[in-house]
Amino acid sequence: MPDTETDARTTEIPVSPRDPFKPELAIRVLAMPADTNAAGDIFGGWLMSQVDIAGSIAAYDLAGGRVVTVAVNAFRFLKPVYVGDLVSCYSWVTEVGNSSIEVRIDVYIERNRNADEVQKVATAVLTYVAIDDKGRPRSAKRRSG
Ligand SMILES: CC(C)(COP(=O)(O)OP(=O)(O)OC[C@H]1O[C@@H](n2cnc3c(N)ncnc32)[C@H](O)[C@@H]1OP(=O)(O)O)[C@@H](O)C(=O)NCCC(=O)NCCS
Repeated sequence: MPDTETDARTTEIPVSPRDPFKPELAIRVLAMPADTNAAGDIFGGWLMSQVDIAGSIAAYDLAGGRVVTVAVNAFRFLKPVYVGDLVSCYSWVTEVGNSSIEVRIDVYIERNRNADEVQKVATAVLTYVAIDDKGRPRSAKRRSG
């Protein structure tokens, strides 16, 4: 009989090491009514926030520690996003400097929860900087150990 209590045992969740240089699904989220602008469509600032978070995940994976956003180099809204759209942000590292990490983020939506209605809605390039515990730039390469 199934146990209805929360079970602390490890479940079969596919966890594998992420390659920050390969496009990876960083965020999947449902666009909600609270995320709309005055016209009732999804607010661009909400999508930018999701993109920033998705990009930071790839940058963090590379740096192995804290990163901050230093620049939005490019951001293009290709199509509107509506309430109920399933929003997927894919991110990957495209360039690495001393402390800086450039990340590309592509955003797709699935409308009406229909896999045949997938559209690319935005694309962006952001730069992050790996920082130490005092907020100063440090090497973008993962710390060993
Ligand atoms: C990011 C930060 C730590 C950089 O500190 P800094 O003393 O200005 O450092 P530097 O000028 O040496 O730049 C560090 C790196 O960022 C890069 N960089 C700086 N400005 C940039 C820009 N506009 N676009 C792209 N890269 C930039 C530099 O080229 C350098 O890269 P490299 O180390 O790979 O050569 C500092 O500016 C900061 O804390 N900014 C606020 C970040 C933040 O809070 N973001 C969230 C906002 S809500």
